[in-house]
Amino acid sequence: MVDASISTLTFLLPTGDIYDEEEIHQYCHLGCRIGGRGCIGHHPWRAGCPVCHQDARRLKKNIPMASRNSAEFKSRYGPWAVVTGASSGIGAEFSRQLAALGLNLVLVARRQERLARSKLELEAQHNIQVLTVACDLQHTEAVAELAAATAGLDLGLLVNCAGFAVTGEFTQHRIEDEVSLLHVDCRALMMLSHHFGKKFVARRRGGIINVASAASFMPLPYWAHYSAAKAYVLQLSEGLWFEMKKHGVDVLALCPGSTQTEFAQVAGTSMEGMDVKPVVSQAIEGLGRKIRVTPGLGNRVAAIIPRLIPRRLSILLGSQVVRPARS
Ligand SMILES: NC(=O)c1ccc[n+]([C@@H]2O[C@H](COP(=O)([O-])OP(=O)(O)OC[C@H]3O[C@@H](n4cnc5c(N)ncnc54)[C@H](OP(=O)(O)O)[C@@H]3O)[C@@H](O)[C@H]2O)c1
Repeated sequence: MVDASISTLTFLLPTGDIYDEEEIHQYCHLGCRIGGRGCIGHHPWRAGCPVCHQDARRLKKNIPMASRNSAEFKSRYGPWAVVTGASSGIGAEFSRQLAALGLNLVLVARRQERLARSKLELEAQHNIQVLTVACDLQHTEAVAELAAATAGLDLGLLVNCAGFAVTGEFTQHRIEDEVSLLHVDCRALMMLSHHFGKKFVARRRGGIINVASAASFMPLPYWAHYSAAKAYVLQLSEGLWFEMKKHGVDVLALCPGSTQTEFAQVAGTSMEGMDVKPVVSQAIEGLGRKIRVTPGLGNRVAAIIPRLIPRRLSILLGSQVVRPARS
């Protein structure tokens, strides 16, 4: 009865993340990675595993921390990966961590000189090949360019990381900037997920990591369009997670909160942020095991607050999150 229902039911935990029964079972038996290394104490299944009902005291005795085995990761998501937004921040960190796992990389962004520098560094440090594709993802042709440039490669992983925000009142912005945001943050991500997702489904293995944001959890005045765009990314990714799972393809939505990159500067705001390393390592750790990864306890709490309070209050709270630095 339990086995038959594995993967068909999902649990919404207080962390704001959704897990299926199989994952809950894994976390109980291998040690929970949600609250950090070996954490098991504060989750709903502290009374024991809710799937097989094994006693919690027996589970606590042996809590190894799972980390990705590079050979296993490579055979599941390699040999080649595409990373968009690879010239800076979260995308650049994905490139470093995936290179360390032995994947060959296609690095995508507009700033060719940065991509070229990363190629030199990564090829010197790791035994991998790196291709660079300089293109502007706000244009539809860029997706076709990227598809052509990668046609001969055996790709197994797509990381859709390119994105940006514009800060301030929507009607005060140039419409061209808002359209560009829509095209880079949503349209390019959707088209690349379709192009590479189709290939992964045909070869019956692969993965897609879509970088959404903690901004996807509630409407954020002064980032109204950006938070809407990231809600689109989150919703699309979670739907694709279900559709592609049965074809052997893993989809993960990464929802970082404020992270130390060039993002705030580009967005015209200022904010404190998490270090980029754990943001990326948690995503890599979660691929194939989770539907969504929200790094940082505060961000996971922020994810559930909008579910508990009236919508109007949620918008009011959201209006305190983003402050245009140049206003
Ligand atoms: N940092 C945060 O606090 C935070 C929080 C939540 C979510 N995120 C999301 O994380 C992702 C990565 O952002 P980040 O924090 O790493 O910021 P970042 O340091 O500014 O990096 C953004 C990347 O996107 C690329 N990009 C932007 N516009 C592009 C375009 N038109 N065509 C091709 N590439 C483009 C940039 O490369 P070029 O400029 O060279 O083209 C750069 O590599 C974004 O989707 C962002 O929304 C960030």
